[in-house]
Amino acid sequence: MAHVLLDEGGSEASDYEGKNVYFDERQPESIRRAHPDGRLGEKDDLAAPLAWMSGVRVITGEDSFLPIRTTSLVVDAAADFDLYTCPNENAAPVLYRERSVPFTAEDRDRLEESGVVDLFVTVKDETKFWHYIESNLRDILRDKAMANEEKASLAYHCSQCVVTDLFDDPRSSVSIDRSKTLVKNMAEFLLQDESSLSNLMRMMSFDNYTYTHSVNVCIFSLAMAQFRGIKNIRALCELGEGALLHDIGKSQLDPELVAFDGTYTEEQHEEMKAHTVLGYELLEALGRFSPITLSIVRSHHERFDGTGYPDGLEGDGINHFVRICAITELFDSLTSQRPYKEAAKSFNALKLMRDEIPNGIDLHYFESFVKMLGDA
Ligand SMILES: [Fe+2]
Ligand SMILES: [Fe+2]
Repeated sequence: MAHVLLDEGGSEASDYEGKNVYFDERQPESIRRAHPDGRLGEKDDLAAPLAWMSGVRVITGEDSFLPIRTTSLVVDAAADFDLYTCPNENAAPVLYRERSVPFTAEDRDRLEESGVVDLFVTVKDETKFWHYIESNLRDILRDKAMANEEKASLAYHCSQCVVTDLFDDPRSSVSIDRSKTLVKNMAEFLLQDESSLSNLMRMMSFDNYTYTHSVNVCIFSLAMAQFRGIKNIRALCELGEGALLHDIGKSQLDPELVAFDGTYTEEQHEEMKAHTVLGYELLEALGRFSPITLSIVRSHHERFDGTGYPDGLEGDGINHFVRICAITELFDSLTSQRPYKEAAKSFNALKLMRDEIPNGIDLHYFESFVKMLGDA
């Protein structure tokens, strides 16, 4: 991301034409109308992260296999999927270890000595594999033997699974627990190593789905708070939970409206704006979230100059964590792929934010955000 930001910035700034497409006036309100921030995707859209991660699917006869890195297996952890090995690239995978047999330290050493980097799971077991990774994510992210980049890929895809389930059933206490655990793991991962942010950013999908948008905003917000010197894990969790769930109110809207690809009418836009209050009310009723988290969900579309919604808050009336989330949310929305316009690249998105709504965002935080992306 740093390369996109720094290398392309100078040349693209001069011939940028997206402004006329995205912005019809200088008010943040118009940004939201012309540029609604995401739609719900289908579960199938999350398919094949494994294939992306370490190779391609292997299809033999009726079975289809996905490669997994041997380093992603946790010694002695319960695993509800069979493991396969592939003797050579032209051969069909053969059973290496049944699900009832634990994967041991000796297994790991033996595979390493033999130079085996990948094992395989069947496509049928893919969901079980991801539950296994999610259950063991804390240990995986602390594993000194695993490369930070691989940890980032596992954490990012786990996050998408968690958010998908959460949007399906936002009142589920299991999903709420999973999202809280995920945010804590993500906050600790970002604190642990400064390469975590750049590796997570490399994994980011800037598509148009609320799921990936939620995860991206959570990562950016946690990283930005840490960049500003906030290391307290409890404070980071309150911020991260708000960022991850900031658009949860969209789960309460008509899915067709949320999935709509074009420019919203005034009436549709008013309906969409309700996601802030709906999300706040939904989470407040659960009694599981702090006032800071709730205020992020309610107020992430407020603007510094009072032109935002739903309450028209301004300046010091907007919590600092809300200001952070407002910036990261806007950036991710602007850099997300739209069906009707190619996503603005990082430099252009930042330029738009600075030029078009300088009074709408906290410029101190905005400067921090730009520096953070430059350093990543
Ligand atoms: Fe959003
Ligand atoms: Fe939103």
